[in-house]
Amino acid sequence: QRIVADGGVPVEPRSVGGPSALPAGAPIGLVAELTHRCPLQCFYCSNPIDLSPDEMDTEGWLGVIDQAGELGIRQLHLTGGEPLLRRDLPALVARAGDRGLYTNLITSGLGLSPARLSALVDAGLRHVQLSVQDSDPASARRIAGLAVTDRKRSAAAAIVASGLPLTVNVVLHAGNADRVAELAALAVALGASRLELAHTQFYGWALRNRAALMPTPDQVAAADRAAAEAARLLPTTYVRPDYLTGIPKPCMQGWATRQLVITPAGDVLPCLAAAQLPGGPPPSVRTSSLHDIWYDSELFNRYRGTAWLPSPCRDCALRELDFGGCRCQAFQLTGDASATDPACHLSPSHALVTSLTTPAPPRPLPVSRRFP
Ligand code: SF4
Ligand code: FES
Repeated sequence: QRIVADGGVPVEPRSVGGPSALPAGAPIGLVAELTHRCPLQCFYCSNPIDLSPDEMDTEGWLGVIDQAGELGIRQLHLTGGEPLLRRDLPALVARAGDRGLYTNLITSGLGLSPARLSALVDAGLRHVQLSVQDSDPASARRIAGLAVTDRKRSAAAAIVASGLPLTVNVVLHAGNADRVAELAALAVALGASRLELAHTQFYGWALRNRAALMPTPDQVAAADRAAAEAARLLPTTYVRPDYLTGIPKPCMQGWATRQLVITPAGDVLPCLAAAQLPGGPPPSVRTSSLHDIWYDSELFNRYRGTAWLPSPCRDCALRELDFGGCRCQAFQLTGDASATDPACHLSPSHALVTSLTTPAPPRPLPVSRRFP
């Protein structure tokens, strides 16, 4: 599962106008899922269950980066799967630099040798987010499907030696949420300049494994406290679990407001999980321009602004802050993507969420992510 952050780049806030203003301004960030291939098998991966072997070629991605620059996008988040599996990664980073994009690599670190990193630094890479599965090597191995701890240490050492800022990303769940303090200590030992702790967001493989991953309320309370302590050690972002807090997240900071996602095959989405929504196949950069998709496509305009919001969001004071929560989560839980996110304690369907968290469900063994 990937955490998309701003990579420490100062970003001008962009207005999308009043409650129903359309269209949005230009996007700020592009999340490029270069491949669904990955050496790891994390059972909380947010990639879809149907992992696709279809990948755009180098020319296709270079064209996307050119269009992103023309559209005014300023940040390129290279992710996957494992983006290091793309041999053309330095060429993509270099083109992004030519187009004025700040490039952030989101990686497992496997395959990030000093030589590989040096080529990326020379091409203009600016920031690395390194995923860490757990501070306990045996648990990390269970989560990732192979021994990863020493390889993460090597990758972190190479990143720090290169002079690039390093953010350590950790997805929290029932299996590691008791070790937030140890994870923070590990991040410090790895030389991280930032730590991102995010409770699992339930999409893709994580949704399939929801019952195995769901933390208990006691675990969340302890993780909350440990995350506050971690922030005393290094700059820390902490994302609480909306299923257990009753507070919906402002997913993607509003539908089609700041970022867009491109899948390995070239489909363009307002978020990581929107391919599952009904309404026909998503637009593709193979057949449409990024400009037309962002401004004019039905999918990107479907939940823009707040005019479409249902009750109780329509009259809620928080509607401009959380936009009614997550459309994909609303769809997954209620079958209606335009419903109030059931994670919200004010949602008429909130019981759908509380019934999954209280009492803690039996824990089946998680199913590891598998590439075809
Ligand atoms: Fe957000 Fe809607 Fe809940 Fe209000 S009712 S907090 S706008 S999800
Ligand atoms: Fe799609 Fe939240 S993941 S809107």
